[in-house]
Amino acid sequence: MNNNPIGIFDSGLGGLTVWREVRWQLPNEDIIYFADSRNCPYGHKTADEIVRLARDIVDGMLTKGCKLIVVACNTATAAAIDELRKSYPIPFVGMEPAIKQAALNTRSGKVGVLATKGTFDGRLYKETSRKYARNVDVVVQVGDGLVELVEANEYNGPKARLLLEKYVTPMLEHGVDQIVLGCTHYPFFKSQIEEMVGNNVTVIDPAPAVARRVNDVLAEQGLQNAPNHCGSDVFVSSGDAGAMQTLLTSMNKKEYHREMLLIGDNQYESLR
Ligand code: DGL
Repeated sequence: MNNNPIGIFDSGLGGLTVWREVRWQLPNEDIIYFADSRNCPYGHKTADEIVRLARDIVDGMLTKGCKLIVVACNTATAAAIDELRKSYPIPFVGMEPAIKQAALNTRSGKVGVLATKGTFDGRLYKETSRKYARNVDVVVQVGDGLVELVEANEYNGPKARLLLEKYVTPMLEHGVDQIVLGCTHYPFFKSQIEEMVGNNVTVIDPAPAVARRVNDVLAEQGLQNAPNHCGSDVFVSSGDAGAMQTLLTSMNKKEYHREMLLIGDNQYESLR
């Protein structure tokens, strides 16, 4: 048993879609969430830059005693997870585009993947699609602009609608029946995309599978918190903590009723 916290980080607020699932599936765990909103988006940064940013975040989380870190960002996973695993003694769980699930479930033999440029350029995406989507027609689409809309809490407005139509329509015209959300910011658009595509197309958010993986790794390595412990959440942003507060409030109202503590970057050092 280990009562240290789990760390979860993303380039910004998108990883909250992963936090939501981890919190849901692992109610006994304490969680520290870090949004690197000051440096968001990561999508067009070089791998070296992302490795440097990820190391800084991980160093901070280790000073808080994190026992496992979730890289809740497809782009950072693609650029940095190998380096992180080599450099630090704790387990890391990363994001993997859910191509396997899409390839297994498709009836039309055509699947769409929406992700950042960095994710498509990474080794992980290429390997995963080579391994699982060999016999499937994959339509890839970079979702430029979507991350920024989530960061600005504008993921429900007309700008989002226009961009989503631009990205999703070609996939539908191509005949896909599965759309993989390959960026952790994109599940904020899930219900809008579902409305656009209708019942015959499945929109896949990999977060539940990632949370299951976190649970498995904790169990395998004897790192689970006590079963009677009620997990706490701490949210830290390197950017606008108010934007995170607004997003959390809307998520919390809909799905959660938990006490949350939100603090800005400058107070990170005083934590715990
Ligand atoms: N949430 C990040 C991801 O999953 C967004 C990347 C970005 O900041 O561009 O890829």
